[in-house]
Amino acid sequence: MPSRATRTVRTPAASRSLRTQHFVSLLDLSPAELADVLTAGLALKKERARGVRSYGATALAGQHVALLFEKPSLRTRCTFEIAVRELGGDVIAPPQDVAMGEREPIADVARNLERWVSGVVIRTFAQDRLVEFATAAPRLHVVNALTDEEHPCQALADLLTLREQFGEVQGLTVAFVGDGNNVAASLAQGALMLGMHVRLATPVGYEFSDEIAAQLRGVARQGATLEVMRDPKAAVTGASAVYTDAWTSMGQEAEAQQRRKVFAPFQVNEALMQAAGDAVFMHCLPAHRGEEATDEVMDGPSSIIFDQAENRLHAQKALLMLLMGRSQ
Ligand code: CP
Ligand code: NVA
Repeated sequence: MPSRATRTVRTPAASRSLRTQHFVSLLDLSPAELADVLTAGLALKKERARGVRSYGATALAGQHVALLFEKPSLRTRCTFEIAVRELGGDVIAPPQDVAMGEREPIADVARNLERWVSGVVIRTFAQDRLVEFATAAPRLHVVNALTDEEHPCQALADLLTLREQFGEVQGLTVAFVGDGNNVAASLAQGALMLGMHVRLATPVGYEFSDEIAAQLRGVARQGATLEVMRDPKAAVTGASAVYTDAWTSMGQEAEAQQRRKVFAPFQVNEALMQAAGDAVFMHCLPAHRGEEATDEVMDGPSSIIFDQAENRLHAQKALLMLLMGRSQ
């Protein structure tokens, strides 16, 4: 067995180091903190085989985290449950009908939970609901597990996956093709903070709002640029990564038929991937196979979609450890 001195993984301290109390948006992190979370995530991934002896295994010892989900989830729910347990903490999942303001005001739910648990992971509709919850319970650590506007935990995993694929990400181009949605917004925030170029190709009316585009340009570092385009082919040409997501997000089901028509020219298929050159293909999942991306692309040699899914776990472990971990 290698001695501690010969281990090559450089591991940050397994306890709270982020300045923010909550993680409701990727913009709660500084670019340096974002880089630290990714570094810790990669270290935790290497360490995982060491089980209870791994770094971070007691970071959440004695702490409970509540999972409040108002929309379905496979990846986010499973990876948060595993993440908390592998950091030595425990999870509770209050039933949805008592969780988020149907039976009593959101602020009261937050003020109750604050007396029992250290962290709350929330998937909900409007970002305002999450902010209302976080504001009511300043001692809690509130984590955004997807809102209509943002999906910052997905972006952490996506950026970690890009770091894993390419090493240095500064100067790379990621092309997001499809809907300028929650996943696109958080990915763009993080990519621009790390110095990546972001191209977004959407139909008219589905791009980032002017307000979001201005906010994104404001967080760009190290020469990063944001281009909003209409032509998917132009967007992917020369990109290192081509990303897409479902055309209809949770909560928009009534628009599905209309969206299928509008987004049809934005499908990521083999012809589009060929135009991109040797780009990797990314998708947050769940996918509507045959709509936003074909099976050939999803299951093809460029696809890194299941690496992204795996890295949800490692990225969220790093986030929880640096957001609310205690030194033992
Ligand atoms: N990508 C993602 O958030 O998946 P779930 O909706 O299954 O959690
Ligand atoms: N944009 C999608 C992401 C699902 C993980 C949605 O909000 O439904």
